[in-house]
Amino acid sequence: MIMAKQKKMSEIIVQIDGKEVKATEGMTILEAAQKADIFIPTLCHHEKLEPYGACRICTVEVEVGGWTGLVAACLYPVERDLIVRTRSEKVDKIRKMILEFLLAHAPWSSQLQDLAQEYGPDKGRFEKESSFCILCGLCVRYCAEVKKKNAVGFVECGARREIRFIPEIATKECLNCKECFELCPTSYLQAAFVLAASLAFPTNSSPTALKK
Ligand code: SF4
Ligand code: FES
Repeated sequence: MIMAKQKKMSEIIVQIDGKEVKATEGMTILEAAQKADIFIPTLCHHEKLEPYGACRICTVEVEVGGWTGLVAACLYPVERDLIVRTRSEKVDKIRKMILEFLLAHAPWSSQLQDLAQEYGPDKGRFEKESSFCILCGLCVRYCAEVKKKNAVGFVECGARREIRFIPEIATKECLNCKECFELCPTSYLQAAFVLAASLAFPTNSSPTALKK
């Protein structure tokens, strides 16, 4: 009886795109939407990983207690009387701009191109700087959080930030794993190339250097 009462207390009804959705305290908007089969695009989210909030493509519009704002659905927790709009003029505009920026980095990504069909980004707003990596961190976080190997990590900061395989670990661990390749939203082959290059040239493992 007490347990049933507690269960009921932790249940929260939120409104997503005009639909009443049952959620549980602690859930994010993304989890509540997915449970109700409401689609929100994601690039850096993975159900086995801690929320990261890097790509912002999951931005939605929320309204609660008279406040309206744009939040990342993969991070923002549900709360009582929350109203969520997964598509609106503001949401579409921000997703369009994010895609313009990401496509400048990874123009061949089929996942980005699919999203581009929906949001129609303008070409050429951002300077082209193809690096294949959109720094979603899926590979880095998967290797650390799920595989517990830390064979791939981020190096440098700001515009110079990139992923790099740690040769001493990668040579031992990656050949029989490669689970991170499929997670990459931009290019499986490029990620494979970086790994292969790291393994072949462990002393010169900078992906940038090896691409030249
Ligand atoms: S290599 Fe791919 S999975 Fe790894 S951070 Fe870059 S875009 Fe994400
Ligand atoms: S999926 Fe939410 S910030 Fe990337």
